Amino acid sequence: MELTSYEEKALDGEYGEAVRLAMRAVVKVGEALGAERLVPVTWAHVSGISYKNIGDAGLEFLEELAAKGARVSVRTTVNPAGMDMEHWREMGVDEGFAEKQARVVKALISMGVEAALTCTPYLYGKVGLGEHLAWAESNAVLYANSILGARTNREGGPLALFEAIVGRAPYVGLHTDEGRRASLVVDFEDVRDLVAQGYHQAAGYLLGRIAGKRVAVAKGLPPMGSWEAKLFLAAVGASGGTGLVYIPGVSPEEPRIVEGAEEVPVDKRDMEEVLEYFNGKPEAAALGCPHLSSRELEDIVSYIERRGGARRPLVLFTARALKGRLGDLEKRAEKAGARIFYDTCMVVSPLRSFLGSGVAVDSAKAAYYLSAQGYAVKLMSRRELLDYVTGGGGED
Ligand code: F3S
Repeated sequence: MELTSYEEKALDGEYGEAVRLAMRAVVKVGEALGAERLVPVTWAHVSGISYKNIGDAGLEFLEELAAKGARVSVRTTVNPAGMDMEHWREMGVDEGFAEKQARVVKALISMGVEAALTCTPYLYGKVGLGEHLAWAESNAVLYANSILGARTNREGGPLALFEAIVGRAPYVGLHTDEGRRASLVVDFEDVRDLVAQGYHQAAGYLLGRIAGKRVAVAKGLPPMGSWEAKLFLAAVGASGGTGLVYIPGVSPEEPRIVEGAEEVPVDKRDMEEVLEYFNGKPEAAALGCPHLSSRELEDIVSYIERRGGARRPLVLFTARALKGRLGDLEKRAEKAGARIFYDTCMVVSPLRSFLGSGVAVDSAKAAYYLSAQGYAVKLMSRRELLDYVTGGGGED
């Protein structure tokens, strides 16, 4: 691999042990992937920081790296933790877990990482067309590539941290024009109306399954807002390994489609199968996979207020960045029977301890991971879910 003089020096240990280790990992991964060089990145986003997922081994790794003097060299944000960092007791989290989760976050902060604790970093900073990033967290990667036209591969959590330290990523895959060519077109024309009723997540789940790791074009989808795109792409990331889906009319880049690309139509039955698969009996509901924006929170709370408040437990997950910036929304949510938690999400926190084991969600990504954890999950459109929570029926 061709390296610049900074990269050579980093590899030789001129900038310290932590930088040497990080550069060695990035170069090794690049070589394994056939990259001919590295590319400077402007923003890294690290996933896998919930103590529930990484355990003692992950904590030890982060503390050792911090003790070696590791510092990130570009803006670096991190994914949700395993608990609300302030209100963890109300989530049924025990002291031991809380102490270790706090140590994970402390180690990251000591490396210069922003404790954003969100999977929607794209809502908290500007990303330019063609900008190179080193993001882990599949929904964020898909959003960055597909909606913002930025360039990042789907990195693993530790690799994204190494890339943050050296400010470089292997120039391969979705960083390159060649790697961004689509070899699959999925046609949603026949289910356009159904998707428009709030089933973007089911459409995304199907696309991910069909695409695997292939870059795809999603044809025939109805117009979608940012929150619907989030749900769609999070679902793609759960069922598939791809990091880029072109959505005509939404994506800023014109799709480059390879000759002979496969074309796959989706029909109503395909969509119904997804909804039938996630059809458990809920006792409560959770929204915020990916994390809710302030606009979504406002819409959700207003809706349940108009319907006379929640009659079933409802929790809403969002980013720490919104703490203290929601005005009276947090109080209004509580008055209407909903609880907002920050820093964490339904998948990486011990949901069972405060919600029970049957949960309604509007996110196919949450449905996928919660099912795998043994929850009875009911996948609904957001409107259906809010009607379920407030007692059924449509909005009057
Ligand atoms: Fe985010 Fe948790 Fe879903 S990290 S995308 S809310 S599984």
